[in-house]
Amino acid sequence: MLTLYSNIKHLIGIEEDAAQKKIVKGAEMKVLPMIEEAWLLTDGQFILDFGSMENLPDKPYDREENLRGASVLPVWVDSHTHLVFAHSREQEFVDRIHGLSYEEIAQRGGGILNSARKLNEADEGFLYDQAMARLEEGENLGTGAIEIKSGYGLNTQAEIKMLRVIRRIKETAGIPVKATFLGAHAYPLKFRENHQAYLDIIIQEMLPQIADEGLADYMDVFCEKGFFSAEETAQLLEASSKYGLKPKIHANQLYNSGGVQVGVKYDAISVDHLETMDDEEVACLQHSDTIATLLPGAAFFLAMHYQPARKLIDAGVAVALASDYNPGSCPGGNMNFLLTLACTQMRMTPEEAINACTLNGAAALELSHQMGSIARGKKASFIITKPISGPAYLPYAFGANLIERVVFAR
Ligand code: NIG
Ligand code: FE
Repeated sequence: MLTLYSNIKHLIGIEEDAAQKKIVKGAEMKVLPMIEEAWLLTDGQFILDFGSMENLPDKPYDREENLRGASVLPVWVDSHTHLVFAHSREQEFVDRIHGLSYEEIAQRGGGILNSARKLNEADEGFLYDQAMARLEEGENLGTGAIEIKSGYGLNTQAEIKMLRVIRRIKETAGIPVKATFLGAHAYPLKFRENHQAYLDIIIQEMLPQIADEGLADYMDVFCEKGFFSAEETAQLLEASSKYGLKPKIHANQLYNSGGVQVGVKYDAISVDHLETMDDEEVACLQHSDTIATLLPGAAFFLAMHYQPARKLIDAGVAVALASDYNPGSCPGGNMNFLLTLACTQMRMTPEEAINACTLNGAAALELSHQMGSIARGKKASFIITKPISGPAYLPYAFGANLIERVVFAR
């Protein structure tokens, strides 16, 4: 059925030349093309056309929805989440208030290992139901494509269980979902003194089975002091490349881990987190096609310093923003709040922040051909806002739910 959405106050994030832009880098990120007083035509699945109200189409359509001054923008693409987990971890949140650090909690066997214990006890149906509820909550907040990682299993059976849950979400969610294998999220306690034994399990047991069942699109490693070193990360990325799994890695959250360098060396699609960055890491990204995916929700929740977005963008790097939704460092997936964090804490402009949550998020999941902008031939998935004065009002009026409705291509 052809639907004409008319009287759109601002049609934000358009691409006139059918989906030309795969990604926006550096100064291009400031440009967020838009039409004021616009219409949009879809067949429910794809965007067919759009334009100014002065030139309403003469093409026939089946129904008209008069949006009466609402604005429209592409759905958010959340390119980094840990949406499948068994239990919340508010006790650690309270422990941090009392002075323990995220790192200290992890060293005591809490953190990721705490989530792994709970996940090992949970069955697939329970994990699926929980994750789907979180996904639905995210959809209502405008998220229309998502990446989900494993990494709370930490043994072959439980990692496969998580990835099967993600596969089921992929099959049933109705929005694009990408799966990332993160068996290298933490060393289980029994391997703390024998890293190579766990690396061998990942390489010899997990990866072949995952590849065999086609359970993952990407390979992730938590490259961090106290977790996986740059050398260990290289060993894992070498192995995963044999199965065609492109890297998207956790890098430089707590320390200069060498994660950015090893990610770029192995052509990572993105390196994610980047709270701790020196000039060397910025220069390394500057000369690469790797996307810098910043997760300000985690910096906010762990009360850490924010990522150097300005420095990265000014150096010409492509920056994406993602939620990092997980029970430890960011128990929420509200991409709208990220816009505000990006603007107030990282001095990104509203246009840069919106591009980072749409076009560059889509690029970080290799979904640029179907998501990330209002372009002819892309999926008809978009956010209809309450009346707003323009794009800057979205990060400005933080905490208010400015979403009237989200339309998903089905
Ligand atoms: O991206 N830092 C590593 N992994 C997650 C947090 C995992 C957890 O605490 O459960 C992150 O922040
Ligand atoms: Fe993460």
